[in-house]
Amino acid sequence: MWNAIFGSSEEPSPTALEVTFTLNGKQVTVGNEVVEGTSLNTYIRDVAKLKGTKFMCTEGGCGACVVAATIEHPVTKQKQTLSINSCLVPVFACHGWDIRTVEGIGNKRDGYHPVQANLAQFNGTQCGFCSPGMVMNMYSLVADGKTPTMAEVENAFGGNLCRCTGYRSILDAFKALAKDATPMMKKQCADIEDMYKICSKTGLACSGSCKKDSNFEEIVPKSVKIPAANWYKVTTLNDLFSVITSLGATVYQLSAGNTAEGVYRHYNRQFDARIDVKDVPDLRTINTSGGFTVGANVTLTEAIAAFKTQAAITGYSYLTELANHLDVVANTSVRNNYKVPGAKDIPADFRINFRKNASNPLGLLNSKATGEPALNMSIVCFFALRNALDSARKDAGDVADYYDIKLPATVETIAMTSLTDTSQFTFA
Ligand code: FES
Ligand code: FES
Repeated sequence: MWNAIFGSSEEPSPTALEVTFTLNGKQVTVGNEVVEGTSLNTYIRDVAKLKGTKFMCTEGGCGACVVAATIEHPVTKQKQTLSINSCLVPVFACHGWDIRTVEGIGNKRDGYHPVQANLAQFNGTQCGFCSPGMVMNMYSLVADGKTPTMAEVENAFGGNLCRCTGYRSILDAFKALAKDATPMMKKQCADIEDMYKICSKTGLACSGSCKKDSNFEEIVPKSVKIPAANWYKVTTLNDLFSVITSLGATVYQLSAGNTAEGVYRHYNRQFDARIDVKDVPDLRTINTSGGFTVGANVTLTEAIAAFKTQAAITGYSYLTELANHLDVVANTSVRNNYKVPGAKDIPADFRINFRKNASNPLGLLNSKATGEPALNMSIVCFFALRNALDSARKDAGDVADYYDIKLPATVETIAMTSLTDTSQFTFA
């Protein structure tokens, strides 16, 4: 069929009946024993029993589930370590990945990774629920020898929510590892040479990444068919059309990053088969010769980088604006696996109805906000405190419009900012 239509001699690639990947250096296979729709997060926590990786929103919004995945690019064949929301990724989509969870980069016995050590050193953790996701997001940012700036570190944490520590200490901990961190910040870093086992190859704390399962064999990317789950992974267009032909009238879904799963739950829709097309090279190619074309499965992260590069060429400067816009779509770990939306992803008929007689006319009927309630509650407390301080300062004769209040708003901070002394305090 392929030859007749496209004139290609592309041969179908060999097909596996199981998905194979590594989890913290140990090779695992997943097949019919796992039901279709099982997320990587569920697999990590409930099958591999690694409870360090958390989950909360299961929508790609909170970052509690972030893990690091080293994935070979189907076109460049280069391996890249990316932060990934394990709540969104089907475990069947992980074929060939090298996945690391927070347990796999350092621990009390073998020594902590600098990212873990610094988070503790800067008091960046309280209940600790968000900490594994924070750590793995930062780990992915510095993996593969990457050296982010402080601005890049800050920008990479748009998808990691913390309900209790406060972001300043978390960001300070990670910015101190940036290449442009101030000498003062670097001095505050955890001293890994004294406290942690040092890797002879990297000079950093041992992450255990050199350790491979003794049965480890290089996983060759190939097509996969998991019969009970009706899950197909294809790595060539030829395979894709063969699978579609074989499915006949079966209702199927083409799956790329599966990031829409957070909003459009697939169990609410009727698909009898799913075809993972993420690793089809033709769909991940960015072509800059004789124009600028972006494959349908290019991720937003890849698209942003390509737009920035292409914007330097005459006639393409507008791509800077597109790159800036994509940079605020979702968050880093979602963008790492989120393909550029296609024309059919946009509803042909898109209408907004305002709700009549709603008790809160500005409120949303629905939103995927998860961490925001906690954030809103804390900001409400802060603004109430600020109003009280305004009054106290006016009583003390201060007429300035602006004053700075340092967070966290401890008793000392409040006392100093209020321009009163503790003798004026009434304790009830
Ligand atoms: Fe995955 Fe919230 S649980 S982003
Ligand atoms: Fe508790 Fe961040 S330390 S949620």
